[in-house]
Amino acid sequence: FTTLGASAQRPPIDWQGHRGCRGLMPENTIPAMRKALDLGVTTLEMDVVISQDRQVLLSHDPYLNADFVRTPQGQPLSKAQEKSLRLYAMPYADIRRYDVGSQGNAKFPRQQKLRTYKPLLAEVIDSAEAYAKRKGRPAPRYNIETKMAPTGDGTLHPAPAEFVQLLLAVINAKGIQDRVTIQSFDPRALEELHRLRPALPTALLVDNTSGLAANLQRLSFRPTLYSPHYRLVTSNLVKACQQQGIKIVPWTVNTAAEIERLLQLGVDGIITDYPDLRTGQ
Ligand code: G3P
Ligand code: CA
Repeated sequence: FTTLGASAQRPPIDWQGHRGCRGLMPENTIPAMRKALDLGVTTLEMDVVISQDRQVLLSHDPYLNADFVRTPQGQPLSKAQEKSLRLYAMPYADIRRYDVGSQGNAKFPRQQKLRTYKPLLAEVIDSAEAYAKRKGRPAPRYNIETKMAPTGDGTLHPAPAEFVQLLLAVINAKGIQDRVTIQSFDPRALEELHRLRPALPTALLVDNTSGLAANLQRLSFRPTLYSPHYRLVTSNLVKACQQQGIKIVPWTVNTAAEIERLLQLGVDGIITDYPDLRTGQ
């Protein structure tokens, strides 16, 4: 790993592999999670959606994204097809037939091309736990983002209460409650989670310039973490979070220079598509 100046004096931070490690492997897949573990992340960041038959699966988008998804026959998807392939309206067995890795992603030229699929959250956890054990690595933490998909008329599918219940059922079944944070841009998901399981860590994701106080007011409780876009992070913001006892973990930080700036400001973690930029802490 690259060792950047002065990092040895800093407390250890939480290195999070974004969508596993999107810069190097197809996003939100089992190969991406394994690669991230190989590169020494402490936390696997991932996005989840719910299929028509109420399976919790990994996907950032609520549809099959033509930028990197191919048909089961290996053909590229058109943008018109993409619009009709909404995950909340498809049974998981259908979703799983699509190839999300062979095409690659033009935005991430270092990403390895390999045939893979959108996995269930349960099998991702099984795989990561077994892989870490086999490699003699610490059991990973999981930072799971709820991506509640608006349907055509703008309603959410499923409603936040059902989404959170389905997600908690997987987390309970896998026994990883002590190593999970649930993150969301949507306060409705975090409120529901807090109501059901107040002890479970939550992260409020932020991509606006309203400031810490205004964003915290969107919640009826104090989240464990504040997770802003990295460009929003200033020294004052880090101090304000520290004063309130809230950890700050920015996303998605993809250059060594920006990682160094944030470490110097004293953030508690880094979410990156390139865990190979991890500094030697
Ligand atoms: O963890 C935060 C980050 O993942 C949010 O952005 O769009 O990549 O899910 P996005
Ligand atoms: Ca995410």
